[in-house]
Amino acid sequence: MSITYKDEAGIAGMRVAGRLASEVLDYLTPLIQPGVTTLEIDRLAAEFMKQQGTVSATIGYQPSGYPPYPGHLCTSVNQVVCHGIPGDKPLKKGDILNVDVTVIKDGWYGDNSRMFLIGGEAACTIQARRLCQVTYEAMWKGIAMVKPGVRLGDIGHAIQTYAEASGFSVVREFCGHGIGQRFHEDPQVLHYGRPGTLEELKAGMTFTIEPMINAGKREIKEMGDGWTIVTRDRSLSAQWEHTVLVTPTGYEVLTLSAGNPPVPAFVASEAATATATVSA
Ligand code: MF3
Ligand code: CO
Ligand code: CO
Repeated sequence: MSITYKDEAGIAGMRVAGRLASEVLDYLTPLIQPGVTTLEIDRLAAEFMKQQGTVSATIGYQPSGYPPYPGHLCTSVNQVVCHGIPGDKPLKKGDILNVDVTVIKDGWYGDNSRMFLIGGEAACTIQARRLCQVTYEAMWKGIAMVKPGVRLGDIGHAIQTYAEASGFSVVREFCGHGIGQRFHEDPQVLHYGRPGTLEELKAGMTFTIEPMINAGKREIKEMGDGWTIVTRDRSLSAQWEHTVLVTPTGYEVLTLSAGNPPVPAFVASEAATATATVSA
């Protein structure tokens, strides 16, 4: 495997796939409520993908050593770190939920995830709210680093420093990834690391940044279904994900649509205008 650099046609394909992946999350947002099951969310997403003319990248996805993944998306509740399989347990007030959506459009992949506070902010503990907020900001600390010449270790370091300064821990076993006409390409994008190390970013690279941050210790374990990952200490875990393009001057976030939360204030306004403009 090696890194693929996208030309203008590839970038155009990635922009469309990224926007559509984000629009699935926009569509689901008002439907994610106490009492709804994650299987229902999966069903609604599958219908919406059909309407938008996309295909889920996750259903039937089977990396070597794994059983085929059974969902159109991943739903990771509370202590579930990632790859939660949609099921028949209703969401309840105070839960935190990550929904991770990857779609394929015309052969190009768009991958993104967001956190949802079930029953609204007031229903969740201060710790849960802060974990989701810090994880969102940690993702953006990583994105804000992206430009040619920067190294992957710089991104990992920015994320790790921010998360740990907030008293949280960074999951090591899963990382961001190159993405394009395949779901998981080189390079691996670690969410921890040392400045000045690892691959140098070049224009035309597309990859995800998707930190998984735990309220407690960083250790994880896998459940018997072969997919679901939980925190070993059962503490809460949060994750946000965007797909980004390295441009000649910085970055463009590809997984943007009308429903993304605002970019954090610490992101330089110059860099923020370099991201794709969101049309209402
Ligand atoms: N969307 C996840 C990622 O960000 C991967 C999910 S693979 C699945 O890389 F099979 F669990 F869906
Ligand atoms: Co991803
Ligand atoms: Co994802």
